[in-house]
Amino acid sequence: MNVTRRRFLKATAALYLLPTIAKANIPSAILEAKAASMQLIGAEFGDYPKTEIWGFQGTVPGPLLRFKQGDTLQQTLHNNLPQPTSIHWHGLRLPNAMDGVPGFTQDAVPTGETFDYAFPLKDAGTFWYHSHNRSTEQVARGLYGVIVVKEHTPPDVDHDIVVVLDDWRLDETAQITDDFGAMHDWTHAGRMGNYVHAHLTPSPDTLQKNARVRLRFVNVASDRIMTIAIQGGSGKVVARDGMPLQAPEDLGALVFGPAERADVILDVDPSEAQALQIVFLERDTGYLLHEIPLAGDAEATRGPIQALPANPVSYLSSLEGAREIPLVMEGGAMGRMESATFDGEDLSTRELVQKGKVWAFNGIVGMPDAPLATLRQGELVRMPIANDTAFAHAMHLHGTHFQEVLPDGGFGPMKDTILVQPRETREIAFVAPPPGKWLFHCHMLSHQSAGMKTWFEVV
Ligand code: C2O
Ligand code: CU
Repeated sequence: MNVTRRRFLKATAALYLLPTIAKANIPSAILEAKAASMQLIGAEFGDYPKTEIWGFQGTVPGPLLRFKQGDTLQQTLHNNLPQPTSIHWHGLRLPNAMDGVPGFTQDAVPTGETFDYAFPLKDAGTFWYHSHNRSTEQVARGLYGVIVVKEHTPPDVDHDIVVVLDDWRLDETAQITDDFGAMHDWTHAGRMGNYVHAHLTPSPDTLQKNARVRLRFVNVASDRIMTIAIQGGSGKVVARDGMPLQAPEDLGALVFGPAERADVILDVDPSEAQALQIVFLERDTGYLLHEIPLAGDAEATRGPIQALPANPVSYLSSLEGAREIPLVMEGGAMGRMESATFDGEDLSTRELVQKGKVWAFNGIVGMPDAPLATLRQGELVRMPIANDTAFAHAMHLHGTHFQEVLPDGGFGPMKDTILVQPRETREIAFVAPPPGKWLFHCHMLSHQSAGMKTWFEVV
């Protein structure tokens, strides 16, 4: 290119006069969705080959995106997959057009094409991004990553570690099985893998006794609920689903439905412990997912673990004037559903199974043309969610966090996903987000594909 002195001066002057334009021209980062192969199974399990995955930048998890609260997220999705895709920014408050739901807030991005995402980051915390197209397959193949938005005044810790919990269904040659539509999975608890794994970023080789550590857990599994215990340290749960807890909770076993997150701050045990261990609990067995050996002592000079600084969100104080929108979940194996509406037709359970649609909300299967409700922005909604099925469901609301309405009339923490156990009823309440179409679905992605998906329209 031919840059004359005169042009250079002109450009400099323009920059001077129009700083906002200069800022908007900063090239946004690119997230390239593509196939790649990587060593997924650790050497401790034997000599396994690399696994063919789909990942952002060709890695699983995708790049860890780090921002400061108040920054603008700017990312261009470049799709080099053999299928169309999109990115949903799970848990972040954003304009509807940035929500990444194909056929709904944008078109799916075809192979070879791009889509620009940009929005300000209002809240600090631990969030994640993932494909929202054919997600039963695309998330199971690895299309996700974590977003860390740093507080203006972050807590003082020695290590800040992201822990991605995932679950892979692999064959004997370590390849992802392509049985994504298996009806047995869809009618039961979803696609369960055979390789549960914790991926740490960064992954320290050792920790000092007394060190203060922040662990940011994210369950990215397509369907598996994970119960995690931490050994060799004690502390507090300080955030859930990206939002600070007003009153941090003592650290015990943590249960994560798909998409659920928790931030933990702990002090490494100064006594007997040899390592900090992350243990996956299932039935009566604990499986060691990761351990970091302890070496040397740090001085225990820090005070008690404090609550994180609050995000600019308003907590609920009453349900006065709330509009009640009940949700009943039905269907699945061992369910009591006899028929439901799909695509405007009333079908028997047997007919529904043939179409791969086996779960319903309020007697309607799949994503209906009409919303569950049309809300005014700012309207207060209360929603009792009755799980009349034999399986747990991790219900996720797009657009805003909600709070659980507790049996004593109080309100639980801000969450974006709630795990509702079989035959259980839990009530949530929320304030309608900005205008647009916002999904409400089960984050067990097999269930979502098989009908557990509805939406709100906000005007
Ligand atoms: Cu994390 Cu609609 O999804
Ligand atoms: Cu479900």
